[in-house]
Amino acid sequence: MNMLVLGSGGREHAFAWKLAKSEVCDQLFIAPGNAGTAECGQNVNLNILDFPAIASFCLENQVELLIPGSEDPLVHGIVDYFRSKPELQSIKVVGPEQTGAQLEGSKDFAKAFMKRHAIPTAAYETFTKDTLEAGYAFLETQQAPYVLKADGLAAGKGVLIPETLEQAKADLKDMLADAKFGEASSRVVIEQFLKGIEVSVFVMTDGDSYKILPEAKDYKRIGEGDTGLNTGGMGAISPVPFADAAFLAKVEERIVKPTVAGLKSEGIHYTGFIFIGLMNMDGEPYVIEYNVRMGDPETEAVFPRINSDLGKHLVAVSETRLKDENLQISAKTAATVVAVSGGYPESYAKGLPVNLPSDSGSIIFHAGTKSENGQLLTNGGRVFAVCSLADNLSDALAQSMKTIESIQFDQKYHRRDIGQDLLKLQEA
Ligand code: AMP
Ligand code: GLY
Repeated sequence: MNMLVLGSGGREHAFAWKLAKSEVCDQLFIAPGNAGTAECGQNVNLNILDFPAIASFCLENQVELLIPGSEDPLVHGIVDYFRSKPELQSIKVVGPEQTGAQLEGSKDFAKAFMKRHAIPTAAYETFTKDTLEAGYAFLETQQAPYVLKADGLAAGKGVLIPETLEQAKADLKDMLADAKFGEASSRVVIEQFLKGIEVSVFVMTDGDSYKILPEAKDYKRIGEGDTGLNTGGMGAISPVPFADAAFLAKVEERIVKPTVAGLKSEGIHYTGFIFIGLMNMDGEPYVIEYNVRMGDPETEAVFPRINSDLGKHLVAVSETRLKDENLQISAKTAATVVAVSGGYPESYAKGLPVNLPSDSGSIIFHAGTKSENGQLLTNGGRVFAVCSLADNLSDALAQSMKTIESIQFDQKYHRRDIGQDLLKLQEA
């Protein structure tokens, strides 16, 4: 079967890297891809939101499995588009239809869904411009810190956690009355602050049954010690030591099962991935957010731990027979560290020449890279995600640090403390 992956980041390189090894994948295409994906298959210059162009390409190249990497095409209805055209019925898209993609596309939808299905999450209320005064009154009943979330997609920036009531009211006004995040903040969810440690659980589903993939912890801030601006993610570790069997059993019973069953009972056809961002509060899991795709850079730690054939699993997902698949997970630890271009997540240079080590002992996933006349160049803020597998976290981290230090480009930056918090927890 021919397959097409949509996207150009480290996550999409991890998909391409895994699918290139699949027994069931004939030709692999990645659109638009990066210099790393070009080594796994053929890059194609397509806009991931240009559904008619993607459809024509699939028909011309007998692509039967389409795998969007990010939420964008899903939230914009790529599944519904392909399902609505008679000539596209041979092409299966791995992902939820637009209604299901609202789990990520609308915080209010996600919260209401959890409430309907008694899935543990922070208590909340939703407000609009017309109910701003009620929002202020609600804030007065809450305790600091306050959690304000823009309802719609805001490129990962739509969550504010002000420390004081005064700031919370000002932020609420900015979001609702002054459209701080544009249309995305025309509705704002205010929720209870959850105190604990975060962990993400990934689920693959065909709408009927599901498989739980390895969990991961990511590191969102640019600076060491989790300081500074938020980024797309600076590193990821899998497995997560504090997410032990007892905790994961609670996640499955209280969250995964009711989520998959809830979608089905509401008539939402959901295939693909559910990325559940969780807070572990004294051993009890609460949902912080749903995403309708895999994480980046979590995928670059999770997929290297999957020993079985991802291509086969995804075909099974698209044919509603995931139940019979044998998902095999490696017991090894994956430590993934991201190398960024200096200045990221604010302004940074692109087009810087890169030298990669030839034999590093790690998997070097490309994120923002391109190749020009045989020269590898940076082409984004996050440039590489280096993953190492080892028998324990400290060896995996040491190997990733060694590899990332041997990658050369001007103003390269990476965090040196990824995973150190988990090592300390393990020692304690
Ligand atoms: P989200 O975009 O929903 O993932 O939120 C971004 C980040 O804000 C999360 O990764 C958490 O670190 C934090 N956060 C979101 N909701 C809460 C909450 N209810 N309590 C504490 N922290 C939260
Ligand atoms: N690393 C966080 C995300 O993919 O949303």
